[in-house]
Amino acid sequence: MRRLKRRRLGLLQRDYLVHRALWPAIEAAVAGVLQGRDRAGLTVIDLGCGEGPYADLFEGCRRIAIDRSCEGAAPDLLADVAALPLAGGCADIVFCTQVIEHVPRPDRLLAECCRTLRPGGQLVLTGPFYWPLHEEPHDYYRYTRHGFAHLLREAGLLPLQIVPDCGSVTQAAVSLIEALPRWALVLLPLINALTPLLQRGSNDCRSPLNYVIVARKP
Ligand SMILES: C[S@@+](CC[C@H](N)C(=O)[O-])C[C@H]1O[C@@H](n2cnc3c(N)ncnc32)[C@H](O)[C@@H]1O
Repeated sequence: MRRLKRRRLGLLQRDYLVHRALWPAIEAAVAGVLQGRDRAGLTVIDLGCGEGPYADLFEGCRRIAIDRSCEGAAPDLLADVAALPLAGGCADIVFCTQVIEHVPRPDRLLAECCRTLRPGGQLVLTGPFYWPLHEEPHDYYRYTRHGFAHLLREAGLLPLQIVPDCGSVTQAAVSLIEALPRWALVLLPLINALTPLLQRGSNDCRSPLNYVIVARKP
């Protein structure tokens, strides 16, 4: 998986189906968390920010972007997400997308999310159920919805929603695209165009690519 700089969809992209499924789910989760809030008064921590492809969603908020490295990332602060140099209760929102699979101790990451959130603060978290190996060797886990719910509760967070971003049809198509030889990539626009139609006709969401989660600190 290539690091994302900004969100722009195109039928000729290899990651089209992945982003088509994930981005609207993230945008909806963030919109829900921000709804009716005065953005100027909100502090958002973007954990494992990468290039900050979702920064625009938090326009008007005070956003603190954190990553462990500046390589392929644009952090305000260099830190390990499992040991943050931030005061407890400093954040209204913690945003953490596609990072939890790269952290060897996800329980510590979620404990830091809980510690840095103020009571009533919300976490927007995403992570993969199915994904080819990437960012190796720092690619440790894949998660089920029940695994996420368990980890969140153990960390002291209350899961509000754990939403699959697509289903088996899209997952199969993404696997096929990954496996296609170069010459067969001429089929890409066709697969990209047909898959959402087939996915719409299927109600099997047991095999998504990712889960998009909103959780609250009690
Ligand atoms: C797949 S990228 C996702 C980037 C961004 N959140 C996104 O959705 O595009 C994973 C990011 O997590 C960062 N990361 C992984 N482990 C980390 C750790 N222990 N502490 C801080 N950042 C970490 C990586 O440097 C990378 O920028």
